Amino acid sequence: MKDDIRKPISADAWDEINFPRPAENDFDRVVERAISRRGFLGGALAFGSGAAVMSAGLLNLKPAWAQQTSRFAFEPIPTATDNTVHVPEGYSWQRLASWGDPLFSGVPELDQQTGGAAEDADKVVGENTDGMELFLIDGRQVLAVNQEYTNNEVNLPQADKGTPRDASDVLKLQNLQGVTVMEIAEGADGWSIVKDSPFNRRITHNTPMRISGPAAGHDLLKTAADPTGTRSLGTFNNCGSGKTPWGTYLTCEENFNGYFGATAEPQLSAQVAAGYERYGIAAEGWGYDYHKWDERFDTSKNPNEPHRAGWVVEIDPSDASSTPIKRTALGRIKHENAATTLAPDGRVVVYLGDDERGEFLYKFVSRDIYVPGGDTSTLLDIGQLYVAKFNDDMTGAWVALTPAATGMSEAEILIFSRTAASKVGATTMDRPEWVAVNPVSAEAYCALTNNKNRGVKTNAGGDAQPVGGPNPREANNYGQIVRWRPAAGDHAAESFEWDLYVMAGNPTVHEGPNAGSSNINDGNLFNSPDGMAIDTTGVLWIQTDGDDSNEKDFAGQGNNQMLAGDPVTGRIERFLTGPKGSEVTGLCWSADRRTMFVGIQHPDAPFPDGDGKLPRSSIVAVKRNDNALVG
Ligand code: FEO
Ligand code: CA
Ligand code: CA
Repeated sequence: MKDDIRKPISADAWDEINFPRPAENDFDRVVERAISRRGFLGGALAFGSGAAVMSAGLLNLKPAWAQQTSRFAFEPIPTATDNTVHVPEGYSWQRLASWGDPLFSGVPELDQQTGGAAEDADKVVGENTDGMELFLIDGRQVLAVNQEYTNNEVNLPQADKGTPRDASDVLKLQNLQGVTVMEIAEGADGWSIVKDSPFNRRITHNTPMRISGPAAGHDLLKTAADPTGTRSLGTFNNCGSGKTPWGTYLTCEENFNGYFGATAEPQLSAQVAAGYERYGIAAEGWGYDYHKWDERFDTSKNPNEPHRAGWVVEIDPSDASSTPIKRTALGRIKHENAATTLAPDGRVVVYLGDDERGEFLYKFVSRDIYVPGGDTSTLLDIGQLYVAKFNDDMTGAWVALTPAATGMSEAEILIFSRTAASKVGATTMDRPEWVAVNPVSAEAYCALTNNKNRGVKTNAGGDAQPVGGPNPREANNYGQIVRWRPAAGDHAAESFEWDLYVMAGNPTVHEGPNAGSSNINDGNLFNSPDGMAIDTTGVLWIQTDGDDSNEKDFAGQGNNQMLAGDPVTGRIERFLTGPKGSEVTGLCWSADRRTMFVGIQHPDAPFPDGDGKLPRSSIVAVKRNDNALVG
């Protein structure tokens, strides 16, 4: 999600007004720390951005992979600044689905003048495609995809600057977000939606949900409409995704705070007020204006409603009538994705990033083991939530968020996970976005997208953001990818070793840390890594959501893009570029791995329909022209 989209006040501005902190500039310290480490890739390769770069110039370095044959089955492509998608020679792409595409017969195609009717908005593909996963169910391919937020000026083209005019406009926005579940199929003309499939379903901001796990039923989750604290409506700001071994979809609620506002001064307990401040719940909201037309979102009337958002939600894509379940054991944060794997003993491990400047990286470990074909209904309800602490010596620990460690009850730890993590001294991170677990090696990666506040001021909880460890650059505007290897190859272990897989940068503009690590060169420039997935062969796919101005610090970096990374050599090559203004986010494969589905979110240009048409977030299908495996 863009940082600056459509908010009366941006999250950054809000943060700066509320948490002014003196600068603590010490640029030399950045260099010193960055180069004093040795990574898994080995010495200067892992951290080529320090003194060696400044003396020799990064482009003159010859890292190990430069002499090796690429493992990638494509020729890398150049950057692009135009309004379409590009893929390597020998590959092609087609549009699979866009905002407004009907899921059912009788629903009209998108009306380019009105952006569609409110009452149809929950029967079409939603807006702002993000995380997605494909499920093979009885031989049919079912795609579950997040619809993160709306672009009001696009989705409400007849409203003044996208400001909702009435309850119908608000309903339309609510209906365009959440999750789309749709059957897709490949025919002679390529991929398309199977209209009227029994799997087709929209989950919106009004869909009934069940709240489960240790926080379910807590007083902080109770409202007048739901005195049990176990039944809520809607899933919000669905960003990244996850897929369980038992075939369910995990959708992750990220910037949920933006939907709430207040028509009068809310009367809040000190605990709730502190939570509002930490999670950024403000009277004015972010411009959706739900609170003016739907009192569920008015915190002066329903102060506990925001506690019912910010969770990971489990959805059964095989049953369109199933009730989604909010899994409170996975904590309440601004969830990016839910990267799920199994420990050697069969316990379920879910890695969880909290995408805000200076927030934390978490993981959940189930108490019970997954048994194929066994009962999975409580695997994500009973377990331990941990938060990561990274040490400068390249070791790290997962610290259990327990009542003893935090002085909070189990339910409070889950509802105010950020506060619990602050209490145990977790490492403030440069905006943890997606985590990807390597299926062929016991390691995981997290994209730390950028953080202009690193070394400049605290996070929203007052925790310092020192320069160092996996966050080695002050005012970091390029981002990096941290990798960890759990002790004994066990993702349930409480200790790990880490390194940086890459520090993005721009060696054509900078020397030193902002040139990036030595696996960055003028052929693979990018900034702000965000979406990630590792395919079954172990290739790390990296998607970006960054500055696509193509000038100054970002000169030569072009539009947002998707690159392939070799975990072993560190080599990174560009595979796809998105249209101007878009973020490339969301990635999965067809059941036969001959098609790769890639999400194109919030294009500025009228992609994909052409001039004079509304820009539409879309999913594209990428294939090799010889129909071989993709990647
Ligand atoms: Fe929705 Fe952090 O991206
Ligand atoms: Ca993201
Ligand atoms: Ca992002």
